[in-house]
Amino acid sequence: MSTVRLRRLRKNNTIRDWVSETQLHPKDIILPYFIVEGKGVKEPIKSMPGVYHLSIDNLIKNIDEIRKMGIQAILLFGIPKFKDNLGSQAYKKDGIVQRAIKAIKKEFKDLIVITDVCLCGYTSHGHCGIVKGGRIDNDETLKVLSKVALSHAEAGADFVAPSAMMDGQVRAIRESLDNGGFKDVGILAYSAKYASNFYGPFREALDSAPQFGDRKSYQMDYRNSDEALREIKQDIDEGADIVMVKPALSYLDIIHRAKKSFNVPLAAYNVSGEYSMIKKASGGDKIKERDLALEVLTSIKRAGADLIITYHAKEVAKWLRH
Ligand code: PBG
Repeated sequence: MSTVRLRRLRKNNTIRDWVSETQLHPKDIILPYFIVEGKGVKEPIKSMPGVYHLSIDNLIKNIDEIRKMGIQAILLFGIPKFKDNLGSQAYKKDGIVQRAIKAIKKEFKDLIVITDVCLCGYTSHGHCGIVKGGRIDNDETLKVLSKVALSHAEAGADFVAPSAMMDGQVRAIRESLDNGGFKDVGILAYSAKYASNFYGPFREALDSAPQFGDRKSYQMDYRNSDEALREIKQDIDEGADIVMVKPALSYLDIIHRAKKSFNVPLAAYNVSGEYSMIKKASGGDKIKERDLALEVLTSIKRAGADLIITYHAKEVAKWLRH
């Protein structure tokens, strides 16, 4: 009697590698950075072991290392000198992100520089948009986001990544970029971004926790999945080049549905709380951390993500080499 024996293809490492369906590669990985004012700054972020606030000079040094490891794309977040009601530091010509982009592009012409376009890191109230009468005003926010995106393009960004979850933000930014003469600057849209409890450590890093209420009137409800497809479709129609699902690990079903439904590159954001969780679970054991992180990141790819934003980027590149 002949039997199907699936174990034949699991016999040894070579065979397992030979028939493996999912490959993680350093080129799929996007590394986020938190940039601060000053010189020589490398300040650990407590809730995210291994992640730092970096000043521009140290950022350049760090990028030099990751380039050698095969990472091709980075995502920039800025921590401004001061915050105000309108997030006005976000679109300043000589703002922290704008200066960082220029410095990076001077040294690394072919590195893909993506910038987060949002206001929460720049507003004193910590919300992602302009507050009017106790509410986040969608259309007033669009005007500011357009200015922020344009200022990043002028500084030399390759992609802008709107993450404020305002309706119409991709269209508004696309128009602003086109009118400004930046038809070639792309948009990586945070399309299905959930109001998640996994953003905690990031908000410590950016000091961006909302000072009143929460983000549920603009970020998505995690009970919903059909709605994510509507969000993504809307962003594609408005001109997004790449769409994103965020977070990743509790949202593998969304990633899978998005990949099945649309023919555009799909990114997933393995967020701060997911990163910290693995750090905690491995308790300083590097091997454990590697095995856990690779399993999680591979599952995100297997679900359908083409690109993954992860704070483990540098380590992943190292692990994949060996
Ligand atoms: C800002 C923004 C957030 C993250 C990326 N961009 C947080 C938020 O909405 O509070 C989270 C990233 C992470 O947790 O790693 N809109």
